[in-house]
Amino acid sequence: MPHITLTDVSKTYPPQKRRGAPVTAVDAVSLEIQRGEIFGVIGYSGAGKSTLVRLVNGLEPVTSGSIEIDGVDVTRLSPAKLRDVRQKIGMIFQRFNLLRSRTISQNVAYPLEVAGLPRAARKARVAELLEFVGLSDKADAYPEQLSGGQQQRVGIARALAAHPEILLADEATSALDPETTDEVLDLLARVNRELGVTIIVITHEMDVIARIAGRVAVMEKGRVVEQGDTYDVFTDPQTATTRRFVRTVVRALPDGDALAALRAQHEGRLLTISFRDDGVNEARVFGALARAGVDFNLVHGGIDDIQGRVYGLLTIAVRGEESAVRAALDGIGTSVTVTEVDA
Ligand SMILES: Nc1ncnc2c1ncn2[C@@H]1O[C@H](COP(=O)(O)OP(=O)(O)O)[C@@H](O)[C@H]1O
Ligand SMILES: [Mg+2]
Repeated sequence: MPHITLTDVSKTYPPQKRRGAPVTAVDAVSLEIQRGEIFGVIGYSGAGKSTLVRLVNGLEPVTSGSIEIDGVDVTRLSPAKLRDVRQKIGMIFQRFNLLRSRTISQNVAYPLEVAGLPRAARKARVAELLEFVGLSDKADAYPEQLSGGQQQRVGIARALAAHPEILLADEATSALDPETTDEVLDLLARVNRELGVTIIVITHEMDVIARIAGRVAVMEKGRVVEQGDTYDVFTDPQTATTRRFVRTVVRALPDGDALAALRAQHEGRLLTISFRDDGVNEARVFGALARAGVDFNLVHGGIDDIQGRVYGLLTIAVRGEESAVRAALDGIGTSVTVTEVDA
């Protein structure tokens, strides 16, 4: 049984202004999230990601559809039962949402106080959590004395306080610089691996997905327009939106100034050859082209790493026909594609 199942979930907000139109923030979304996986949800601002998260943790009611956690439909629970379910769900935020007037240990203890845990048990649990996130030495500091990355690690400790089985991370690294982002993503990966927590990572940054999520759903205007294994979605995107996201992280594709420079320097066509990790590699591609007598130069490209798997993208300048390139590569692997570099 999936850990979390969304079936045809929609959320429509009433008009904000008089004579305004209602907004369908989440539109017929169906997803299955397995226990123990890291599932990514990516989309531009306004796609409905945060609304989706608020529906999953029961902060807002759905307009229609069902959300099952461990097979229990949480959209139809009494408030008391819903509170029990929400105990199983931790949440972290873009702005960390720490209480400024409380120390780090008091922040982490907060949900335990609310849950009525006795003082001694609270203390022990807080010490354990700070140890886990590597901030034992900051127990008596205040949030403003910590870096952004450290504050988010406190946010993670607090979210884990009540032993949740699910962690929802809504743009948890969007306020952080790249190095600090890595540090927080590494910690989330550890939470998943060592504690077995199912994590939903919401982001508008594709590199976050590439680094941490085994599977991903792409949202646009409230809908899931594409979902699958992260590697498959990256190497064979099905929608224009996904392709745009992929381009932001696939470094081996020429873009902008690099593309203009290539066009200025090379006559003939620019073609990008891509391949997946199914036995094809650079040497086989070059060998096949050479054997077929294709006159080409490698002008850009290399290998990207997505979820630890290889994705090759080689841009060549060719004199002659695109069909000759296709013919030369035909048969070396089913994952090989040849595309004309966008005008
Ligand atoms: N509480 C609300 N009331 C009315 N409209 C909302 C509310 N929350 C979100 N929306 C609208 O729903 C859409 C999706 O928003 P949101 O879920 O925040 O997207 P994302 O997190 O992907 O940026 C937006 O058009 C937003 O304006
Ligand atoms: Mg959001």
